Amino acid sequence: MLHFDAIAESLKQTRTGYTLPQNLYVSEEAYRFDTEVMLKSVWLYACTTAHVKNAGDQFLFELGETSVIVVRDKQGEIRAFHNTCTHRGAKLCESAGKSARITCPYHQWTFALDGKLLAARNMPEDFNKADNGLRPVALENIGGLIFLCLSDNPPPIDRVKADIEAQIGLYDMSKLKVAVQDDLIEPANWKLVMENNRECYHCDAGHPELMKSLSTYGFGKGLPEDGEADVVDDAAFDAMLEAQRQRWQDLGIYHDLIEFPDNWWHRVARLPLANGAVTQTLDGKPASKKLIWPHGDQEQTSLSVWTQPNSWHHFCCDHVVTFSLTPLGPEKTLLRTTWLVHEDAVEGVDYDPDNLAAVWRATNAQDSHFSAINHQGIKGDGYRPGMYSVEEKLVDAFKTFYVEASKAALEGKTR
Ligand code: FES
Ligand SMILES: [Fe+2]
Repeated sequence: MLHFDAIAESLKQTRTGYTLPQNLYVSEEAYRFDTEVMLKSVWLYACTTAHVKNAGDQFLFELGETSVIVVRDKQGEIRAFHNTCTHRGAKLCESAGKSARITCPYHQWTFALDGKLLAARNMPEDFNKADNGLRPVALENIGGLIFLCLSDNPPPIDRVKADIEAQIGLYDMSKLKVAVQDDLIEPANWKLVMENNRECYHCDAGHPELMKSLSTYGFGKGLPEDGEADVVDDAAFDAMLEAQRQRWQDLGIYHDLIEFPDNWWHRVARLPLANGAVTQTLDGKPASKKLIWPHGDQEQTSLSVWTQPNSWHHFCCDHVVTFSLTPLGPEKTLLRTTWLVHEDAVEGVDYDPDNLAAVWRATNAQDSHFSAINHQGIKGDGYRPGMYSVEEKLVDAFKTFYVEASKAALEGKTR
């Protein structure tokens, strides 16, 4: 039985509207709690269907000491299994790859892509292969975004699935391929990397490349339907948004803003791009000539999806960019960014990978620095929980999710 008394005590001290107590951000105990308890009690974003596009494709998702294989089987179904052999426990796959079967490198036990044990040499007569298949991990495919839960009793996901699928279906992720993937290791606690993602209070000064195509409205600054949370009194922006909404309705792409409804853990918003941009690139023009939605390259919006506690995604007319975050240590976080384009787009002909990735590659590097200085400052004796600005209500929403999910996990419940 794990005991996390200091964590439980700090969780009690948390306050709405304020950052967390120091030890929840920086301590070794908090890292162990997060990776061994809290993050195992919730759904985590792992990858896209494009990461396992063909039968036999395997992708690894790793949290703490636990490694999971995401694999597409021969029937096209995507499954997840613990990356641990059912013989004596060796790690089966050390990296993503492709194979017709999964063979353990230790004694060559062989498993089918659906997890069944196919071959195990010289086992006693009473050994039953049917009882020794790979151990499954809960998996949900939400319109092409793959979520995993390491709990034996996963929390509900149905509303997240319905709300996200209703909007991203337009981009048909089954027709996309991975064009670029960056793994960035940030020298900061994962919760600070998340907090940084949930506000654009820092964007105007911190992200010159991003601001070429993105407005901070909707990324922390309010939208009209936020009601009391509408923190920006900007009539011109509201009027522009209203005019755009009419166009979105005409195109059949209008949906109300979905913002962590009823204690759920997802936000979905279609937002206007800035400066005439039609996609999130440096020049605002498509980075891939093969568009991935049916409405051409004149519509000046993108669709964004955020989930607690570890992902965000942007859907543009020509590409999707998707972010997954996993802790590697108290002060070390893996941010995996993947850019997807149409499966028929040809590198060097239809898209230049560096141009495709330019905006978020620069933005990620800037955010990594912000998260690092945040972590360094919090480690000092001078740190006390600070108050979030009105533009940081989504940071508080993440923090509150963390606190509530942590308390529930300590009580042995999933959220
Ligand atoms: S540990 Fe995998 S075959 Fe022995
Ligand atoms: Fe940022």
